[in-house]
Amino acid sequence: MKQEKILTMTVLMTPDMANFSGNVHGGALLKLLDQVAYACAAKYCKNYVVTAALDQVFFKQQVNVGELVTFHAQVNYVGRSSMEIGVNVFAEHLRTYEKRFTTSCFFTMVAIDEQGKSVEVPRLQLVTPEDHNRFAAAELRKQLRQESLEKSRILHTEIEDDC
Ligand SMILES: CC(C)(COP(=O)(O)OP(=O)(O)OC[C@H]1O[C@@H](n2cnc3c(N)ncnc32)[C@H](O)[C@@H]1OP(=O)(O)O)[C@@H](O)C(=O)NCCC(=O)NCCS
Repeated sequence: MKQEKILTMTVLMTPDMANFSGNVHGGALLKLLDQVAYACAAKYCKNYVVTAALDQVFFKQQVNVGELVTFHAQVNYVGRSSMEIGVNVFAEHLRTYEKRFTTSCFFTMVAIDEQGKSVEVPRLQLVTPEDHNRFAAAELRKQLRQESLEKSRILHTEIEDDC
C-alpha cells in the first residue's frame, strides 16, 4: 500500500498576520509550519504526534500580505518513534502568478500514546533514489542534532558549575 508521506497546504496571507513593517510575521509562518508538519506526520503514522525539535529554519525571502503561500511537507526519515518532516514554502503573487521560494526547515515529530510515551511508527518505504538520498541526509542531520545537543548539555553543566 502506498504510504501517505507528502502533504501540501495553501494559505492566503491576511493582514492580521502582518508585523510592524507590513510583511508576514515570522511567528505566524512558524505556526503554520508547525501545523503542516503535524498534519504530515500524523497522517503518515496515523497517530497523535508532538513537535520534538525544529531546526535549520531558513527565511530566505520575506512573505507579503496578500500572497498565496503553499507549504510542501514530506516525511524524509523515520526512526523508531520520530519522523523528520522537511518543509519548503513558496509564495505566489495573486495577480502576476509569480512564485518565489521563501522558507525551508526540518521538524522532528514524535508519535506518542495517551500517556505521552513515544510509540513506534511504520518504517519508511524508500522507493526512488531521491527517497534514499533524503533519508540518508536526514539520518546525518539526526546524528549532528544529537551531537550538538550533547555539546550544549556539557556547556550548560560547565556554566552551572561556574555559578
Ligand atoms: C518528544 C518527546 C515525546 C520525547 O520524549 P523522550 O522521553 O525523549 O522519548 P524517547 O527517549 O523515547 O525518544 C523518542 C524519540 O524522540 C527523539 N528525540 C528526543 N529528544 C529529541 C530532541 N531534543 N530532538 C530531536 N529528537 C529528539 C529521539 O531521538 C527518539 O527518536 P527515535 O524513537 O526515532 O529513535 C518528549 O520530549 C515530549 O513530550 N516533549 C514535549 C513535546 C511538546 O510539547 N511539543 C510542543 C507542543 S506539540
